Amino acid sequence: MLRRILKSTTSLSLSSNIFLTSKNISPSSFLTTTLHNHTLKNFSSSSSSLEDQPSNESSQQQPSSTLSIDRSGLYNPPEHSHEPCSDSELVKQLKGIIKFRGGPISVAEYMEEVLTNPKAGFYMNRDVFGSGGDFITSPEVSQMFGELIGVWTMCLWEQMGQPDKVNLIELGPGRGTLMADLLRGASKFDKFTKSLHVHMVECSPTLQKLQYLTPKCAGEDVGESSGDKRTISMFVGAPVSWHATLEQVPSGLPTIIIAHEFFDALPIHQFQKASRGWSEKMVDVAEDSSFQFVLSPQPTPATLSLIKRCQWAAKEELAKLEQIEVCPKGMELTSNIAKRIGSDGGGALIIDYGLNGIVSDSLQAIRKHKFVDILDDPGSADLSAYVDFASIRHSAEEASDNVSIHGPIIQSQFLGSLGINFRVEALVQNCNDEQADLLRSGYWRLVGDGEAPFWEGPDDQTPIGMGTRYLAMAIVNKKQGVPVPFDNKIRHL
Ligand SMILES: C[S@@+](CC[C@H](N)C(=O)[O-])C[C@H]1O[C@@H](n2cnc3c(N)ncnc32)[C@H](O)[C@@H]1O
Repeated sequence: MLRRILKSTTSLSLSSNIFLTSKNISPSSFLTTTLHNHTLKNFSSSSSSLEDQPSNESSQQQPSSTLSIDRSGLYNPPEHSHEPCSDSELVKQLKGIIKFRGGPISVAEYMEEVLTNPKAGFYMNRDVFGSGGDFITSPEVSQMFGELIGVWTMCLWEQMGQPDKVNLIELGPGRGTLMADLLRGASKFDKFTKSLHVHMVECSPTLQKLQYLTPKCAGEDVGESSGDKRTISMFVGAPVSWHATLEQVPSGLPTIIIAHEFFDALPIHQFQKASRGWSEKMVDVAEDSSFQFVLSPQPTPATLSLIKRCQWAAKEELAKLEQIEVCPKGMELTSNIAKRIGSDGGGALIIDYGLNGIVSDSLQAIRKHKFVDILDDPGSADLSAYVDFASIRHSAEEASDNVSIHGPIIQSQFLGSLGINFRVEALVQNCNDEQADLLRSGYWRLVGDGEAPFWEGPDDQTPIGMGTRYLAMAIVNKKQGVPVPFDNKIRHL
């Protein structure tokens, strides 16, 4: 199947104006190259080009979900003065929450508000990707990424016995580029594409609109109540629906779930070792009205998640740590994924940057392709944290006896085993020198490790590989056997 799929996809359409900058790459190494819309050859009948959309068309507001924290044991905070009127809407809101609660909020609550506050959250009102945005992700680096995720998806579908109906769910699809490349690449495999119902799980109304355009959807546009509207992707004729959460996607059908750079956006709690034991790091308002970190003097509700996470770790691992991050939302999501896959069949693919063990102190803020202070001008920078893949494994194992967990393996092995080397060679055959250079730098960014040796441009634009820092893990129904390429030939971390 793998060879057949790769052979059938031998031409290229590069899409989008791409600002080649990645999350979690040092600021000095950001590459800021604009790729013009090129259609190198008709990969299939449609190109994947995407035009930036105005970003202020937020029409649908999501309910804010906040962590409720028992603050009875916290110290009495000083009265906060009235904030200056120059505060942004989100800053006012955060200060309001802290004031109303009478004490600091957890880092997780801060992160959740900053990213997904319905009115002013980072993701909610604008396109944060690309040259005008803040960072770039693998699907935006090269079409090869989405195509190879498509190869993985089709191989799993074969292992599932080629079911007639499948829910293909993407969590946090961003601009929709991965899904567009997946569908376009798969468009020649009728039996597969006819089985699909695509579900996009996205909290941002603005990004939902982009996700409608990128995979060339037609039919009813997403709008006020986009829960289950019938739209069709013109690439493959598959229905596409949007949902704010995974729980809203109907269950009962065999399911394939893709989560690329989704878990890293889920809110994390931070704990620090103090003389009295582990204390949760909180966000408060300082005397000068700026935000500051403080430590909770008492155990907080999230301590339960910390205890749970620590039970999965070896004593030696814990002894070395001065700080620990835990992601209860990630654990809960994994549990829901595992239960769904366990009962409906199929599998999930999780790709993100992270570690196969406890994460200590990774929370970062990126604005306009540069690292900035986490507490500076919240809502104007992306917040993300390393994903704890060991925690995902344990959460899935705990949730369902019917699933097996594979990986993590490094992204270069994952994409290499799926045939990225053959794919890039096939694409280079059909393009000019400039396009070949773009392909090579995109290839390096996806699978390379460190700075690209072939680079002849400015030093500060050297492509930096994501090949070892990004990890892939699969959660599949045990009936499906071992998914490609997670077999014993691959080195698991
Ligand atoms: C880092 S971006 C990744 C985008 C895309 N997967 C890619 O690789 O280009 C995170 C995506 O998840 C969405 N998102 C973040 N938190 C979410 C939440 N709690 N519920 C639903 N979507 C969320 C964001 O709006 C965005 O589309």
